[in-house]
Formats: sequence, C-alpha cells, structure tokens
Amino acid sequence: MLKSKRRWLQERKRDPYFILSKKEGYRSRASYKLKQILDKYRVIRTGDIVLDIGCAPGGWLQVASEAVGETGLVIGVDVKKVENLGLENIKTIVLDVFDEDFVGKVLKESKSRFDVILSDLSPNMSGIYELDHARQIEMVERVLHLSRDLLKTGGSMVIKVFEGEGSDRVYRRVMRLFRFIKRFKPKASRKGSSEFYLVAKFFKGF
Ligand SMILES: C[S@@+](CC[C@H](N)C(=O)[O-])C[C@H]1O[C@@H](n2cnc3c(N)ncnc32)[C@H](O)[C@@H]1O
Repeated sequence: MLKSKRRWLQERKRDPYFILSKKEGYRSRASYKLKQILDKYRVIRTGDIVLDIGCAPGGWLQVASEAVGETGLVIGVDVKKVENLGLENIKTIVLDVFDEDFVGKVLKESKSRFDVILSDLSPNMSGIYELDHARQIEMVERVLHLSRDLLKTGGSMVIKVFEGEGSDRVYRRVMRLFRFIKRFKPKASRKGSSEFYLVAKFFKGF
C-alpha cells in the first residue's frame, strides 16, 4: 500500500467525525457539516422538496431526509451510484451535473421545482490546486445556472466552494440571485481544507 494512503487511513481512524459517523450510522463524516449548517441556519423545513447534487455516498441525503420528514422528498444526484439507504423519502439518480438534459431528468422525478438545492460537489482531485479549484468553481457556476430552472422563488441553497481566484466571483453571483447570503465553515470541515459553504436564502427567481 502507498505510504500516503496508509497515512490517510490512520488519520481517518483518529478523526472524531469519522468515528461518530460510524457510531451514528451515517454514510459519511460530511453529514456533520450539513448538520452544523442546519443548526446555524434554518435552511430545510418539514415537507420541503430538496435536491442534493453530488450526493454520494449519501451522508447529506440522510441528514436532509431527517429534516424534511415523512411529508418531504429528497432527490440525490451523483455520477456515482448511491447504495440503497432504505429511506422512503429519498430518490437517487445517477447523473452528471453537466448533462445537457439535467433539468428535464431531475424534474421528471421531482414533478416540481425545489425548495432547497444542496451542492457538495467536488471534482476528482489532481493535486494541482489551480486545476482542482477551477474545476470546482465550474461546478458551482453550473449549479447556479441550473437553479434558474430548478429552484422555487423564495427557495434556499447551500453550496460548497473552494477558496481561490474564482470564489469572490461566485460569491458576488450568489449575492445577485438571493436576498440573504452567508459564508460558513463548519467545524466538521477538515483543518487546512480550502472549502467553505455559501448559505443563501430567498431566491429572487427569474
Ligand atoms: C464530497 S463528495 C459528496 C459527499 C456527500 N455530500 C455525502 O455527504 O456523502 C462529492 C461528490 O461529488 C460527485 N461529483 C463529482 N463530479 C460530479 C459531476 N460531474 N456530476 C455529479 N456528481 C459529481 C462525486 O462523485 C462525489 O460523490
């Protein structure tokens, strides 16, 4: 096994959020990022219809499923298949965010626009920061573009952004689209990670 992989596995075993996710039955440590966001900002309500883009392996889906309750629905989209979570208020689709008919394929499942869009999208990391950053920002811009056709007026969004050259540009773009915007770094984000989340509410619509 490669040294770096071995070190990563050892660090993971000591990671409190990894340990907690195993104990509490969450698919990923990322669940705690969304929990911390929802504790601070009341983004999801009972009965909401939520779209989770970049949802695999499903930690955010589990948290969103709890938040919307039996009367709500969560649609998860990822290029990777999500193993069945056994939760009735979740549907998942294997789909690329850049698919030309993304909107049509998603609306076919939801039958309606969404109250909330979540995006925890990350590209496959090359290790070259400028490249990874540019790809991640491209994904953020794609999600913002899709929100025109998928988000209800008044709806909310939580979107991961990699800090860097393009992050101020997307911040300004989100500011134009929503009446409320906050930048938030949950405690569960790894130390030294360049990610942060934009929490936006009251979508102005088009
Ligand atoms: C950080 S993980 C998401 C973790 C998830 N929020 C959870 O709690 O389990 C990022 C995800 O983005 C997905 N992804 C990357 N590129 C994508 C694309 N072009 N379209 C859809 N999903 C993509 C990856 O497959 C990966 O599952």
